[in-house]
Amino acid sequence: MNNMTANDHWEDYRGLISQIFQIIGYSADGISGFLASAARPNHPVERIPSPGTGEFGVVGWTDYGAMLCIVPSNWRKRYAILRDVILALQSRARRPCFDVDEDMPSHSMYYLGLLGSLGWELKAMQRMNAPHDVLDHLAKASLPGGCCDATLSAGRVEEVVHVLCEAYKSPEWDEHRYDEERRSWTKYMGTDGKELDTFFGVERQGRIIGVCQTAVTSDGPLIVELAVLPEAHRRGVGRYLLYRAMESAKTANTQGKPYRLSVDRDNLGAIALYAAMGYRRTQVITRGRWVRNRPS
Ligand SMILES: CC(C)(COP(=O)(O)OP(=O)(O)OC[C@H]1O[C@@H](n2cnc3c(N)ncnc32)[C@H](O)[C@@H]1OP(=O)(O)O)[C@@H](O)C(=O)NCCC(=O)NCCS
Repeated sequence: MNNMTANDHWEDYRGLISQIFQIIGYSADGISGFLASAARPNHPVERIPSPGTGEFGVVGWTDYGAMLCIVPSNWRKRYAILRDVILALQSRARRPCFDVDEDMPSHSMYYLGLLGSLGWELKAMQRMNAPHDVLDHLAKASLPGGCCDATLSAGRVEEVVHVLCEAYKSPEWDEHRYDEERRSWTKYMGTDGKELDTFFGVERQGRIIGVCQTAVTSDGPLIVELAVLPEAHRRGVGRYLLYRAMESAKTANTQGKPYRLSVDRDNLGAIALYAAMGYRRTQVITRGRWVRNRPS
């Protein structure tokens, strides 16, 4: 994202949302609700030209870098504009990713079709929330036998990345994909391991076996990642890490907002864990993730 702020394109953004959300079937209340919750001064807004049409798209982001929406400047040329904007975005983000809310009144499916044709992989996901005081009603988590809290430092980036890659690895990943994920994670952490501040880890016999990453944004606490090495599953490591991360986020969550996370809809194990920790499904989404022709 470049360093433009919301104010630079604020009027375009608000104007286009009001106009286009009406076309796709939003009620007046729905539009003002969206504007109140999503179009906020701390949410950057960017204007991206569409060379193919001479028009532009306005992209709204959250303060933690997730994309909220792209609105085309000309509805009749929307697919060509969206195509140009997506191509511009996918060439520069670390892990380009869009969430398409399936509860949107219409057009979500056309949009998903466009993502597929541009080399994106589509995944069925759901969002889940837990009330801010949920920990008051849960048994405190204890460390599984033989494990201790890991102290994370720059020298351990590789170990953390190993846990993430092994935990998320799927049978479709070939060697190339695995390596790409590993490089992408390592790049994200940086050589100084700066992202490690947002991670909790558990280790056994001097080796990290599970990690959880959280962020507290203006929308409240977010569980970003939770991953345990497959050989350490079902021993309580995931529950412990999640509890620990939620406990820590609680202090920073001064406005009492709910905990949030997203999970694949077919990840029944993780969903069972989240449900046991008080999370409930709030929304179904399809996430598009760019997988083809990604520059290294
Ligand atoms: C999801 C994950 C973090 C769970 O870690 P874990 O250490 O195995 O979880 P725990 O042992 O703490 O499980 C606690 C409870 O969650 C539920 N649970 C966890 N994994 C489960 C599974 N595969 N099937 C059914 N229930 C499961 C159970 O209720 C379990 O309690 P029990 O073992 O007493 O029945 C782990 O499976 C993982 O790393 N998966 C790959 C990465 C991933 O999907 N992360 C979540 C992304 S949103």
